[in-house]
This record gives sequence, C-alpha cells and structure tokens, in this order.
Amino acid sequence: MSTAIGRRRYLTNFQQQRLPHLFTDVLVLGSGAAGLQAALHACQASDVLVVTKDHLDQSATAYAQGGIAAATDPADSPAKHAADTLAVACGLGHEDVIRQVVGEAPEIVARLQQAGARFDQRGTALETGREGGHSLPRIVHARDTTGREILRALVEQTRAQPRIRIFEQCFAIDLLTHDGQVVGAVTYHPKYGHQIFWATTTILATGGCGRVYRETTNPPIATGDGLGMAFRAGATLRDMEMIQFHPTTLYVAGAARELISEAVRGDGAYLVDRSGRRFMAAYDERTELASRDVVSRAIAAEMKRQNAPCVYLDVRHFPPGRFATRFPNLDRLCRDFDIQPERDLIPVRPSAHYCVGGVVVDEQGQTGLAGLLACGEVASSGLHGANRLASNSLLEGLVYGRRTGLRAAARTASNNRIDRPLPVSHLLPHSSRTELDLADVLNSLTSLMSRNVAVERSGDRLRETLEIIDFWSRYVMDKVFDDPQAWETQNMLTVALAIATGAATRCESRGVHYRTDFPDPADSWRCHIDLVRADDAVQVSTSPVPSPAPIR
Ligand code: FAD
Ligand code: SIN
Repeated sequence: MSTAIGRRRYLTNFQQQRLPHLFTDVLVLGSGAAGLQAALHACQASDVLVVTKDHLDQSATAYAQGGIAAATDPADSPAKHAADTLAVACGLGHEDVIRQVVGEAPEIVARLQQAGARFDQRGTALETGREGGHSLPRIVHARDTTGREILRALVEQTRAQPRIRIFEQCFAIDLLTHDGQVVGAVTYHPKYGHQIFWATTTILATGGCGRVYRETTNPPIATGDGLGMAFRAGATLRDMEMIQFHPTTLYVAGAARELISEAVRGDGAYLVDRSGRRFMAAYDERTELASRDVVSRAIAAEMKRQNAPCVYLDVRHFPPGRFATRFPNLDRLCRDFDIQPERDLIPVRPSAHYCVGGVVVDEQGQTGLAGLLACGEVASSGLHGANRLASNSLLEGLVYGRRTGLRAAARTASNNRIDRPLPVSHLLPHSSRTELDLADVLNSLTSLMSRNVAVERSGDRLRETLEIIDFWSRYVMDKVFDDPQAWETQNMLTVALAIATGAATRCESRGVHYRTDFPDPADSWRCHIDLVRADDAVQVSTSPVPSPAPIR
C-alpha cells in the first residue's frame, strides 16, 4: 500500500527554535458547528484558540440547507428517531451512541433557540419538515439556510467570550506529537508565516473531504486536511469508503454543483426523467423519500439506462408561491439560471456530499492519540454506520462539539499547561525531481475519484485507482511545499487513498458503498475497516461493531 503516503509524517519543514509560538489550554481546528460548539464549552474553564483556514463564514455548516433532525413533535420520540438512524446505518451503527445522540437532539435545538437561532415556527411550535429515511417529519429548519442561521447564533456567542481568540485564514498544516501525545499544531498564515500553537488539548473539527471529487456539494474548504493530519500523526481512520452522494445537485453547465435540498422532496417534489415520468416507485416503496443511497443509485441507474446526463426535480404541482416561500434561496438559484420552478423541470444529478467515516473517536470524542479529540464530520463516532440519515450531521457536530469541549475543559483542570516549546522539528531534504503542475494533479485526482470511486465501484476500477494514486504519490508526496493549495493537494491524495483502500477492501455492498461485483451485504463484512499509518506504511484491519449495552 502506498509507501510514499505512509512515509510522510509532516507536510512541512519546521524547527521549533526558529518559529513564533502561542500557548493555550485548548486549540480548536475548524470553525463550523462542531468547532464553535466545542470552543464555547471548553472556554467555560480554559483559554481557547480557534484556528480556521478561511473566514469564519466558510464551512460546510454555513451551506447546510435542510435542517437539524430532532424529535420535537409530540407524535415523535427519540426512540423513533433512533430506529430510523439505526435502520439507515445498515448494520454498522453503534446503537448506544445513536440512542444518546438523538436523545440529546431536542435539548440541542432548545439551546440553539436560547442562543438566538430562529427556526421556522407553526404557531408556537417548531415547524418540522420531512427528509429521506425519516418515518416522520422531524427536520427543524430555518427556511433553506438552516446552517447559516445556526452559525450566526454560534458566532455571536463565540465573539462574546473573552477566553476565546479566533485566528482566521490560518491554515493548520500538521498536528505536533511529542512523547506519543498531541501537543498542538504547526500552522501557516499569509501574514505571519509558520507558527506553532501549543495546547494541552487539541480538538480537530475540520469537516469533510467532498472536494476529493470533481462533483461535490462541499465548499472549497472541504479538502480533508484534518483527516490527513490525524492520519499522519498516527490516529485511526475508519470506514473511509463510506462517502455519501447527495441525490440532487443542480446540473447546469457553468453552475457549481449546488445542493437542491432533500427538504424539497420532503415537501412533495417528484423525481422524473426527461419525459416527465416518475421513476422512484420502481426502486423503493418510499419513492422520493427513500434513503439517500437508494435514491442516488436509482438516479445513476436511470441516467445509465436512458443515456442521460441528469434527471429532474418537478415542483410544478406545488401550490402557487409555495416553493419561493419555503425555499427562497433555491428559488433564487434556479432563477439565476433561467429556470422558473413553477414552469420548468430542475435538472439534477448525484454529487459527493458527506464523509460518513473519519477519525475514530469514543463517546467523549477522544481519538486514539492522547491530547487529541475530534468532533463533527471529520470524526467517526458510530452514529452514522454505513450511511448517514439526512440532517443528522449538524446534530452530531453539536452534540460531540459539546462533549469534546467539556472533555477538553476537564483536561485543562487536570494537566499542566505547556508553557515552553518542546523539542520538535522536521527537516525533509529538498526533492530534486521536476516542478509540478499541482492544478493538473488535482484535476486528474478529482476526475479519477468521480469516475472510479463514486456511487458504483468495482474491484477492477478500484485496483486501477490505487495504482494511479500510488504512482502520483511517489512524486507529489516526496516534496515539501510552501503554500496551502499544495498541502491541500497532498491531503486530498492521502484521503483519496484511504477512500479507495477501504472501498477495495470491503468486498460487499452496504449503505453508501455499492460494489457491482459484490452487490449484496455479507455478514462477514459487518465490521469496520480501520486504516492506520504504521511502520511507514498504510495498515488495514477490521474491528467489530460494538453490541448495545442492555437496557435496564
Ligand atoms: P465544517 O462546518 O465543514 O467546518 C470545518 C471547519 O474547518 C471550517 O471552518 C474550515 O475552514 C476548517 N478547516 C478545514 N481544514 C482546515 C485547516 N487545514 N486549517 C484550519 N482550518 C481548517 N447536514 C445536516 O445535518 N443538515 C443539513 O441540512 C445539511 N445540509 C448540507 C448542505 C450542504 C451543501 C453541505 C455541503 C452539507 C450539508 N450538511 C447538512 C452536512 C453538514 O453541513 C456538515 O456535515 C457539517 O456542517 C459539518 O460540520 P463541521 O463543523 O464538522 O465541519
Ligand atoms: C439537504 O438539505 O438535503 C441536506 C441535508 C443533509 O445533508 O443532511
């Protein structure tokens, strides 16, 4: 397995004695829902530094549309929410984790409201919408920009906390380890250059990796840096083959692959082919509201069968004005491309959306590395198993953000703060090989992943993918670059290797992972696939899905 990637411990060269240093109790990497929630809880008993590579409003959280899943309706219950989550997880979900997380959901929503988040109401109650895989309407939302509203409330709270300092446009390159512990991170800022942030506890909240694919709903920040950093530091990545494809992203030449929220189907939209024929009933009795993996595969099958580049969302039967009122942002987006939703079909196709796997964490968000916690999309907590139920991601980030924040605060109380630089450094000799066109490497990589490791996979294609990644890695990973785009490319190569390795290893179909050569689930594969960097190589192993504790 790719030794070039396995060999690399740090992406940058640094000598601790030559760099500026900052010291803190808790270092949070990332400022989405998970990172800010963690910071807000850690600051109750710690000094916190939040490092984020773009501006505060740039994260997947900011783009979240549909909402946050929570059993807030009297007809609903956390038990029903748990049952839906477990069913969609296809045998890899951790039942205890699922029960705990969905059990906390109503309180998480109430706390967001106390913090100033304004969700849509029906009278005095919260208005809840439907999404695929949910047996009841339970999606709490703020029109079609729920993430932005949640982030607004979290940012306001964060800015009011004197013990939190935020460093924007500061790129975390690598986690620092000393004596087997994570002790902070080495970062880069365009104005201040390389810096070292020393911390008693580091919380990884860097989000997902959709940008590894050519077509993705994810914003440009989603390059899997945290997954790469954690892997290089020795943490375990789990079930990386489980990449969720969202069924409906806008397919118009020249447009970004903007998400058309599942809530649109929850509100009654049909999926049709170019002749206007609804096709989902042929694939699943839940039709348009089947779980995402089912709908994405059905769309891919229809596109192949009809040799068509897309299918369509049909909202022409909505009551007049309904689409524009409920989905004002999407209405504007369609009109920008001269699509009048009340008159025209909306062209859509699946795109990479969510990293279901991630850095393995326990119920407090503790990774396998002392001093390192992780929360949100970067982490694998056991909540999603082999597939994520719609709108469970913001929930996971907020629940685990709180847990990691509290855990970090407890660590502050019981550990001495690092108050002087520790002896760490990294000096890789200059590579004499040729200059690289990194943009070309990136284009080739994202095309390769979209072609070979997307909704459908096969053994032949996966082997070819691994060979190609290995080949590119030999001359991309031997270099020490000096700019964020290059580090992102190296991280994306690492993450692509992890995804393809998991997909090649898992010889079955389960959840979001579909192998044409192994189209059914296999009992022998009801286990996690774990990847770790050891002995300069990528080691693959399996681990069991924990049994739930008996309910007393
Ligand atoms: P993010 O919100 O992605 O934040 C990651 C942060 O890490 C960013 O601040 C980023 O700048 C920072 N970062 C990354 N790398 C570095 C680095 N090297 N150095 C420093 N900082 C770094 N989920 C739902 O539950 N409901 C929805 O309705 C929903 N809709 C979605 C719609 C879209 C278009 C997308 C893309 C996702 C949607 N999701 C939804 C998924 C959900 O938004 C994300 O999974 C969730 O917001 C992730 O939160 P996070 O805090 O873990 O990561
Ligand atoms: C959507 O609005 O369709 C996205 C919801 C999610 O990813 O959970």
